[in-house]
Amino acid sequence: MANAGAGEVSVEELTEDAAKKMLSKLDEQLAEADIAYFRDDNPKMDDAEYDDQKRRYFEIEAKFPHLKRVGGPSGRVGGPVAEGFAKVAHARRMLSLANAFDEKDVANFETSVRKFLGLGPDADLAFTAEPKIDGLSLSLRYEDGRLVTAATRGDGAVGEDVTRNARTIGDIPNELEAAPGILEVRGEAYMSHKDFEKLNASQTKSGGKVFANPRNAAAGSLRQLDSEITKQRPLCFFAYAWGEVSEPLADTQEGALKRLAELGFKITPKMRRCANMKEMLEHYREVEAERATLGFDIDGVVYKVNDLSFQSRLGLRSTTPRWAVSHKFPAERAWTWLEAVEIQVGRTGALSPVARLSPVTVGGVVVSNATLHNEDYIAGRDADGEEIRGGKDIRPGDWVQVYRAGDVIPKIADTDVSKRPKDAKPYDFPETCPECGSEAVREPGDSVRRCTGGVACPAQAVERLKHFVSRAAFDIEGLGAKQIEQFYRDGWIRTPADIFRLKEKLGSGLNLLKNMEGWGEKSAENLFAAIDERRRIPLRRLLFSLGIRHVGEGAAADLARHFGNWDALARAVDSSKPAGEAERKAEEAAMEERAAAKKEDRRAKVGEARGRVWAGVPDKAREAWDEIVGIEGIGTTVATALVTAFSQEQERASIDELVEMLDEIEDEEVPAAGDSPVAGKTVVFTGTLEKMTRAEAKALAESLGAKVSGSVSAKTDLVVAGPGAGSKAAKAAELGVEAIDEDEWLRRVGRT
Ligand code: IVH
Repeated sequence: MANAGAGEVSVEELTEDAAKKMLSKLDEQLAEADIAYFRDDNPKMDDAEYDDQKRRYFEIEAKFPHLKRVGGPSGRVGGPVAEGFAKVAHARRMLSLANAFDEKDVANFETSVRKFLGLGPDADLAFTAEPKIDGLSLSLRYEDGRLVTAATRGDGAVGEDVTRNARTIGDIPNELEAAPGILEVRGEAYMSHKDFEKLNASQTKSGGKVFANPRNAAAGSLRQLDSEITKQRPLCFFAYAWGEVSEPLADTQEGALKRLAELGFKITPKMRRCANMKEMLEHYREVEAERATLGFDIDGVVYKVNDLSFQSRLGLRSTTPRWAVSHKFPAERAWTWLEAVEIQVGRTGALSPVARLSPVTVGGVVVSNATLHNEDYIAGRDADGEEIRGGKDIRPGDWVQVYRAGDVIPKIADTDVSKRPKDAKPYDFPETCPECGSEAVREPGDSVRRCTGGVACPAQAVERLKHFVSRAAFDIEGLGAKQIEQFYRDGWIRTPADIFRLKEKLGSGLNLLKNMEGWGEKSAENLFAAIDERRRIPLRRLLFSLGIRHVGEGAAADLARHFGNWDALARAVDSSKPAGEAERKAEEAAMEERAAAKKEDRRAKVGEARGRVWAGVPDKAREAWDEIVGIEGIGTTVATALVTAFSQEQERASIDELVEMLDEIEDEEVPAAGDSPVAGKTVVFTGTLEKMTRAEAKALAESLGAKVSGSVSAKTDLVVAGPGAGSKAAKAAELGVEAIDEDEWLRRVGRT
């Protein structure tokens, strides 16, 4: 069925009706061929025939673009695409790793593991050490030995379905022998240096995209909607971890990886079992020395606790495991000219100085912007007013040193005053917002100057909206940063609630949207559908999306888990308003005193100020406040930010309006509530625990659905009191809260 081959009508001669029929037939045949090839591993059509059919489809579609079939072959082609990847929920979350930048950080990691497990300094504690591959992580799910899905990490909970593409990677077996019934293999897809150079050479020749580094090339190749393209890109895969497994792979990390190797995976090379810190650091230096000759990019060494029963006791934080850390290689550096300093206004009003640089390559990536942190940093001082860089300030026109570590934005480390142009003047940091002209204020104790315009400042409003639609927040498909800017500029969206009114607001303007650059009938319809889909939203996402200062994903999750539903949360925040205000005033007073008397003990000052301003706060407000700050992971900073946001008129109106537009705020599921007798209970640990460390007890209680609080109140259900329990045990007795000892606690949680 080649291009107008024997018996084939040429595209030029096709009537519209015939073209329509032909497209439908080709689409059907190609879809069947895809299923046979990708899902059933049983190709029904040879490659040449497949390519010919696809080419013919595209030719006809090019002549009759309005007959393009939704979800048809062209929707599956790379480049600017109409449809994205299907979503896959990971059976176990895909996590990232905490970083260690020097030996002290590694020592802290080792100590914290010992402390959590209650191991003395001499007890055996082995680690594996292996290179950290700089590619992109993949989760491969095998059921009964067959590869059923391959997914990218995505937001950790839900990734993109790249199964078709993964099947084209030689290192990824389609079938496994003697594997557990369910096995999720986790690892890194990457491109070798050799293949990367070859690819870029051929891209240059064909006028295609040239990639900045092997990581980008690997990501760009794997995230192709057309797996034919992926197939032509030489990707490799190393396995280094696992997700769901129906039976344990081994007792140790080392053993589990050996098992994965036996099953047919390539595992990270240069892995070593280390009995102690000395061996870990030795291995780090060895891997670092061989970095250039490995043939692929690595950016550090990952240490993992070897004993898997220790790993499971250590468990997970919200985004990283407690049992692993990545020891990063030092950042790459380069010198260049600082052409100008510009100010960007962020979501919280922070005025951030950005260095515009003469482009320079740092670690294989061309850098032309870098952060300058804040005005003190530019002036050569740290947050305490102490000199940095020997007190040298940074001036536009300077010769500066740039460095970048991993994916973070590049930074300026140093300036060479011997090369400073004679007319270079110290940078004059603006005291008004360059975007809206409002006063930009620096609170005592804060290193950042902030625009006071709030959402009336267009820069803040747009940044907040961008945050609102970002992936970890409302994640509205088709509504990204670019579209937000467009809608904001045109006046259609000014607040989050406006997004949900967009269709109604546009009304007769719908035609307008359809004719706007970048929008068509289909994309407009898709956008409204995507918006409607988000009228139901989990509580933690809603909270995070509000963009309240200090309320990041972790804090939002902690709050959601504690309060369970929106009403309970809003009630607690509203009732604690006087306490939150007192706290803010106390902090401000302490900061002022601290700013006046440098290096004073801040805690003492806060304590004094607290006493003064808290005197008149009603008990009810104190209780609500104590509940919030007592939540594990939430402190006074987050609580104050919450209370402040909820009590600011304009901000609260915007939140209420948004909530009004939603159909349902999904309650937070209490994790593994099941039949555990502590599920849903608020527990306070006090005194010394002897069988388990405090941290482990907390983690265990939370994994069983309990809330752990730091203070005893009328809301406490249970106090676990060890020897030496003092005022908290007394308060429990006073309030009639049940108090038990550690043995009874272990019995209740089934750990005896
Ligand atoms: S272990 C629980 N081992 O680094 C996390 N990760 O910055 C399991 N990575 O998302 C990861 N090489 O994509 C592990 N040898 C290695 C790795 C590695 C690269 C990636 C992985 C992870 C990211 C975290």
